[in-house]
This record gives sequence, structure tokens and C-alpha cells, in this order.
Amino acid sequence: MQTIQSVAEMQQWSSIQKRSGRRIGLVPTMGYLHDGHLSLVRQARQECDLVVVSIFVNPMQFGVGEDFEEYPRDLTRDCALLEQEQADVVFAPAVKDMYPPGYSSFVEVEGEITTKMCGASRPGHFRGVTTVVSKLFHICQPDLAFFGQKDAQQAMILEKMVRELNFPLKIVRVPIVREEDGLALSSRNVYLNPQERQEALVLSQSLQAARQLIMDGERDVEKVKDFIRNIIATSPGAQIDYIELNKADDLASLPRIEGKVLIALAVKFGTTRLIDNLLVEV
Ligand code: PAJ
Repeated sequence: MQTIQSVAEMQQWSSIQKRSGRRIGLVPTMGYLHDGHLSLVRQARQECDLVVVSIFVNPMQFGVGEDFEEYPRDLTRDCALLEQEQADVVFAPAVKDMYPPGYSSFVEVEGEITTKMCGASRPGHFRGVTTVVSKLFHICQPDLAFFGQKDAQQAMILEKMVRELNFPLKIVRVPIVREEDGLALSSRNVYLNPQERQEALVLSQSLQAARQLIMDGERDVEKVKDFIRNIIATSPGAQIDYIELNKADDLASLPRIEGKVLIALAVKFGTTRLIDNLLVEV
């Protein structure tokens, strides 16, 4: 496995591989890897000739007062894990190489898809994501790029960007990997103290209970939201950021529950904001 830090070197490597007809799979990450990230790498390994994993804590997608500085980092450990997964290249650029002084180019997907849910609570976040991922696509030139359903809104926005800006690649979505007790794996779980870690189970539990309620026939969006809110309220430390039910293909609002529905939550425990979601089809 090779580690490449320079943007120019990475782009040159990708160009050479493409010319020789190899299929490149890209797994963009911010590092501090866990089994969720590694499931993306495993799928890329199965579907591509070459696997590139990018590790870059992207300052552009963090808001003022968010956790850019504190975001956990451990490149040595990440590289050891990726070596085991037989990744071919770890691309770990420096901020000043990705965004040199005077940098002022951005990629933005507009509309409801970016203004709802995480877009409402984190203004500018998705603009930072679409900009960095566009750059990674140009630098690494993947045929397939792998993203987790854990960040369903992010995957949806990136699929729209790829479609509308004609990026010559396909996005592959990978299911959410969870701990045995249901908590979705996240690099931010390390921020939780034992009490918060326990209370955080209300995310997956309330999603499962909501699915059951819908399966039992409930079709009223507000009633399902109230039901979820009441379950989350049993955790004294939980502060709800949003509870949303939207159409799963474009995040359009739903008058009533029908078709493919994405139930998505963001809940804060202390200063740690966690997200989770579930797809339901009726
Ligand atoms: P990061 O949070 O490191 O996540 C990298 C990828 O891993 C994303 O596609 C995310 O959805 C996926 N992932 C995280 N936890 C997962 C889990 N429990 N199960 C399955 N997949 C999971 O998302 C980002 O980084 C950044 O926004 C990025 C796309 C790299 C742009 O900077």
C-alpha cells in the first residue's frame, strides 16, 4: 500500500492507472476509521481493480464553533487498518495543498435537498462536502465512489451532483454498520461519555419503533414524529435537532406516509451531535 500526500502526485497516479484500463474505486473519508468505513473499503475491493481511500478532515464542511480542531485523527492507525483491507493507496493531502491561499472555487447543489435536515442545522456544510468531493473526483478519477447510507442526505446530494454535472463515475451506497446494540458507528462516538453512550441508543430504538408503527398502519407524518419525540424524551440528556420523514428519493415533503420514506434523526448529547436514519417502504 502506498501513501500519497501530494495532490499533483495523486492525480498523476490516477491518470496513469486509468490509461492502462484499471477500474479505480474511491472511498472518501475524514479518517479515524471504524468498521463502517471499512465496509465501504471492502465493497470497493470487491468491485474495483484499485482502491484509493482518501483521508482528509475537510475544514470547508465544518461551521464556526464546530469540531474541526477536535475531530479525532490517527493516520498511523488508519493506515494499518487499510493495509489489512488491501487498499492500494491512502491519499492524505494537507489542507494547504487542497486549499492554497486565495482559494475561491466552490461546488453547490441548491434546493430542498441541501437546505433541509443537516443543511438547516449546519449552513454551508453540504457546500463544503460537494466542493471537496468534486476535487477528490477530479484528483482520483474513480470509476466507482463509495458512500455510506449512514449519511443518507450526503449520498443523495452527491448522486444529484454527479448526475447533473456529468461526472463520469457511479456512486455506490453502502448500508449502515451498527454496534451490536444498534448504535450506528461514527468517528464522533468517541466523544460520548458512558452515560451518553447508553442514552444514544434511543436513536436506533426510536427508528425501529417508528418503523413498526408504520408497518402497523400509521400513515400520519406528525403522529410518527411525535411518537419518535416521546421515545427520545425518555433520555434526559438528549436534545433533538430534527426528526424528519421525507421521500427517500429526493427528500421532498410527504403529506402522508407512502412509498419509500426516509426517517432521519439528529440528536445532541452534550456537545456531540449524532445522526441516524432508516428507510421504510409501504
Ligand atoms: P466520514 O464521516 O469519515 O465518512 C466517510 C464515509 O463513511 C461516508 O460515506 C459515510 O457515510 C461512511 N460511514 C460513516 N459511518 C458509517 C457507518 N456506520 N456505516 C456505513 N458507512 C458509514 O462523510 C464524510 O466523512 C465526509 O463528509 C466526506 C464524504 C469524506 C467529505 O469530506
